[in-house]
Amino acid sequence: MLQQRIPDPCALVIFGASGDLTRRKLVPAIWHLHHQGRLPQAFHLVGVARRDWDDDLFRQKMRESLAEFVGPLDDSARDAFLAKFHYVRGDPGDPATYVALKARLEILDRECGTEGNRCFYCSVPPQIYRDIVEQLGRAGLSCQHRDHHGWCRIIVEKPFGHNYDSARELNQALHSVFTEEQIYRIDHYLGKETVQNILVFRLGNSIFEPLWNRRYVDHVQITAAESVGVEHRAGYYDQSGALRDMIQNHLLQVLCVIAMEPPSSFDAESVRLEKLKVLKAIRPIRIGQVDRYAVRGQYGPGENALGYLQEEDVPPNSRTETFAALEFTVDNWRWQGVPFYVRTGKRMAKRTSTVTLQFHQPPHLIFAQTDALAPSTLTIRIQPEEGISLSFNGKIPGPDVHLGTVNMDFSYADSFGGRTPEAYETLILDCLLGDATLYSDSDWIEQSWALLTPILDAWQAPSSGEVPSYPVGAAGPEEANELLGEAWRKWAPL
Ligand code: BG6
Repeated sequence: MLQQRIPDPCALVIFGASGDLTRRKLVPAIWHLHHQGRLPQAFHLVGVARRDWDDDLFRQKMRESLAEFVGPLDDSARDAFLAKFHYVRGDPGDPATYVALKARLEILDRECGTEGNRCFYCSVPPQIYRDIVEQLGRAGLSCQHRDHHGWCRIIVEKPFGHNYDSARELNQALHSVFTEEQIYRIDHYLGKETVQNILVFRLGNSIFEPLWNRRYVDHVQITAAESVGVEHRAGYYDQSGALRDMIQNHLLQVLCVIAMEPPSSFDAESVRLEKLKVLKAIRPIRIGQVDRYAVRGQYGPGENALGYLQEEDVPPNSRTETFAALEFTVDNWRWQGVPFYVRTGKRMAKRTSTVTLQFHQPPHLIFAQTDALAPSTLTIRIQPEEGISLSFNGKIPGPDVHLGTVNMDFSYADSFGGRTPEAYETLILDCLLGDATLYSDSDWIEQSWALLTPILDAWQAPSSGEVPSYPVGAAGPEEANELLGEAWRKWAPL
């Protein structure tokens, strides 16, 4: 039986403690870890934010967030958990905030046994990351001082930069205070059970890996469709768009997990190396090729639904894409000639994230009914209805040879039942344990931006033409269908 790993005693400091991510995701995730006994006895959480709160009010707010996002809890268990919460009020750009934070952390070390171990979580708008990093460095909170006992790590949320140059600058700012080993760049897709399971599916079985290459796979599709629109995030989203928001991070990570060579072991260095090799093998799309390899779209109004341009805080002339589809070519032996199609969008027909491998047709067809011969596919359902299904042709019972498509289906809920841990639980626990396997390193981030920056530049150019519109509830703009080129390649239905 695998022994559960428990992190060292430590303090988790959340910058942006009054924000939405803390309320909706981080505190509920930390509750679940606590409840499952995955946190050390001496675990303390210090929230930092500008709001005029104190320890009591912070605990009260987090009590409300647990009620909303976890559900009813046993009062004494919840209050014992919240007793580990502390609040430091302050501006992230103000040195005084860090003086107060340092003093609080030292008290926790002395009185609560956190032993000088700290994890800083930047859950703030990206323009504040640099301030936090610099101030942590100036205040001597990066644990680089030789008299400091204990470890120090920093988790940086996405977006990590908005293009290649800004990502590089942010990496440099981080590296001026922290070593690469201390930096954890989070991508919540990597924490999803279904994404982690791709590696187990591929490498924990010997029957699939022989198929996982150009000899058997015609093409790969990666889809992350959302039914929601921009909601109340237009301030951020209109500066970002689908390419930055979903493809640079989540979908390229999934592509790497699908396309990478088997690492020699499941540790951060080996896994990250193989994923980086995939990015480096992707053929760059130059500015002049963008119209051939990339399609964008923006949702227009639909029945009872606003179009993007009518949404709150969206400039009426915005050209931000809410849909993006790309074709990538992976130039290596395994994937030569196998296109990887990636698409994502808001306000599409439904919420679904999937990976589909479509296999080649048989080289010679002996059945009369060739038109019904659907290609065999393997679909990994990342969410919802998490599972994997293999679809292939079978003979419909009867005197004639009629073919029909059948499915072999694995469903997480049916096979494993129980509650599936949220991505943030896995990722926070991994960071506290010092395991960076599911986090992005600086090279991966920079390479991903290097691949996408020409597309962003082409789309931003005033001469770049209209952004095609798609109706709410569609599968994206018509133009996305042309991306697949060959007649036998179609986007998987949503
Ligand atoms: C976030 C994006 O990173 O991922 C959001 O900023 C998007 O725009 C979200 O809605 C999707 O995450 P999930 O886990 O719901 O697929």
